[in-house]
Amino acid sequence: MSNHLLALQDFTPAQLQSFLDRAAALKKETASGLRHQQLAGKSICMLFEKPSTRTRVSFEAAMYGLGGQVIFLQAKETQLDRGEPLKDMARVLCRYADALVVRTFGQQVVEELARYSEVPVINALTDLHHPCQVLSDLMTVIEKKGDPKKLKIVWLGDGNNMANSWIQAAAVLGFPLTLACPEGYEPAPAILQAARKIASQPITLLRDPAEAVQGADVINIDVWTSMGKEKEKEKRLAVFRPYQLNAELLARAANDAVVLHCLPAHRDEEITEEVLEGPQSVVFDQSENKMHMHKAILEAMICGVA
Ligand code: CP
Ligand code: NVA
Repeated sequence: MSNHLLALQDFTPAQLQSFLDRAAALKKETASGLRHQQLAGKSICMLFEKPSTRTRVSFEAAMYGLGGQVIFLQAKETQLDRGEPLKDMARVLCRYADALVVRTFGQQVVEELARYSEVPVINALTDLHHPCQVLSDLMTVIEKKGDPKKLKIVWLGDGNNMANSWIQAAAVLGFPLTLACPEGYEPAPAILQAARKIASQPITLLRDPAEAVQGADVINIDVWTSMGKEKEKEKRLAVFRPYQLNAELLARAANDAVVLHCLPAHRDEEITEEVLEGPQSVVFDQSENKMHMHKAILEAMICGVA
C-alpha cells in the first residue's frame, strides 16, 4: 500500500475495498459497544490551512475513538506563515506524530510534505482532491444502495476536488460514473484522461443536468464556490444556476434515488431546502460515516493494515 493517502488513484482496487469493508466493520463494532484501543500510544498531527467542521472533528473523533491522541495546528499560527519551508515542517512534525493529516490549497503541498515526512501524510482536502470524503461517501452509497457497479451514480455541478476524487474512485473500483458540468468548469483534464485509461466502466462527462440525472440511483452535489474561489462567487452563481438540485430535477432520477452532499450546503443555491431536508437526502448519515471511514484510514495508514 502507498505510504501516504494523497489521491485515490495511488491505490489498488483491493486496498480501496479494504478501507470500505473495514469502515463498515468498525461502525458495527462501535454500535455494539466495543471500545477500540488499537491506536493507543499513537498520535496524529493535523495541519489545516482552510476552514473545516466535519473533517477536523471526524478525524479527531476517529483518532480518540481508536485510543490515540490529536495535535491540531492552524497553518497560519505556525512558522509556515512566516516562511518556514514545507520540507522542514515535514521533517519536524513527523518526529512528533505517527501521521500528518493536512488540509491545504495546492496538491503539491501534500506531495512535498509526503516526500519529506517519515510518517504517512493524509490528504484532508486540497484544491485538486478530497479522497477521504469520497471514500466516506462511497461507504454511504454502499450502505444505502448496494454495489456501486450496479448503480447509476451522478456528479452534478462543479468539476472540483470532489469530482476529481469521484473520477479516481470510479476508475480504480470499476463502477460507471456520469458527470454533468458547465463549460469551463469540467474536472481536471489530466485526471479524467488518466482515469479513463484504467477504467473498466464508462466515465461520462455531459453538459445537460437533466440528461445526467435521468434514472439516477445516487446524485452527488457540492457547493458551486469551493474554498479559495470566493472571488468568482457571483459569476459562478449565474453559470451554475441550471445545475441546482431541486424537486423538478430530482423527479427525473429513480424514485428511490439518494442525494449526497458532502456539506456545508448553501440552501437554494446548489440544492433547495426542500431536497436537502427531504426523504431522499442522506447527508447526515454521510457526515457520520466520515468518522467511521477516518478510523479505517488511520488504522490502515498508521498500523499498515489494509
Ligand atoms: N465535507 C467536508 O469536508 O466538510 P468540512 O469542510 O466541514 O470539513
Ligand atoms: N469542494 C468544496 C468541498 C468542501 C468540503 C471545497 O473545496 O470547498
